[in-house]
Amino acid sequence: HELPMLSLDNAFNADEMKEFERRLQDRLKSREPIEYACEPKLDGIAASLLYRNGVLERGATRGDGSTGEDITHNIRTIPSIPLRLMGSGYPDVLEVRGEVYMPREGFEAMNDAARKTGSKVFVNPRNAAAGTLRQLDPRIAASRPLEMCCYSVGLVEGGELPARHAEILQKLNSWGLRINADSAVVEGIAACDDYYQRLAQRRNGLAYDIDGIVFKVNSLDLQVKLGFVSRAPRWAIARKFPAQEEVTRL
Ligand code: IVH
Repeated sequence: HELPMLSLDNAFNADEMKEFERRLQDRLKSREPIEYACEPKLDGIAASLLYRNGVLERGATRGDGSTGEDITHNIRTIPSIPLRLMGSGYPDVLEVRGEVYMPREGFEAMNDAARKTGSKVFVNPRNAAAGTLRQLDPRIAASRPLEMCCYSVGLVEGGELPARHAEILQKLNSWGLRINADSAVVEGIAACDDYYQRLAQRRNGLAYDIDGIVFKVNSLDLQVKLGFVSRAPRWAIARKFPAQEEVTRL
């Protein structure tokens, strides 16, 4: 990857979220309320798409963050990923990042069909997405219900993007890339907590698996001021849901 694909720090409760905001305000030397982009944390596989002059040139997995696997052949079979960007005004080189995942309904239908023919069933939608992207034969990916939802950009050359994260995502959407319709922009950490509670209520009814909520400082100017620590940005955090518990017989 020309720019590393980072991971996220985690928070597990409301107090850790307050500490996150306090750290931001201390570093920014300001008590002004901060605007956050709130996004469901999709439980799939991170992917990078490279568009040159609007044409999809390469698809890659995250790998170790610096080197991923080339999965262009499988990425090209996913209907929600445009082979050519729509409209105009996109940068000459645009790297889009997001999550490739399998919606729950498609996953269940695929496993039902596999059970009937006695072929391999997958444990969960994430494993199914990972196993599919790893295939050498793109006909397998083409036959499975994969989707991609975009959540950031990487390399950008020869063009300008808006100054706020949520506006960048809207631009990506205008060029034909899918973004998450359940995302929102809020002000202050109390509103982040409201968003988290609302999504947690809806979690089981969503069309896709999520394992938390990602909160990102919306202003790119502030993101640059805040910077990164080792492999994660200071300006974002994932608030994880408590692990789901199941009863089993041993
Ligand atoms: S942002 C610099 N946004 O979570 C920030 N990640 O632990 C990089 N993920 O590998 C990631 N939904 O695969 C971001 N809305 C979202 C996400 C998201 C899922 C995954 C992503 C990443 C992992 C980070």
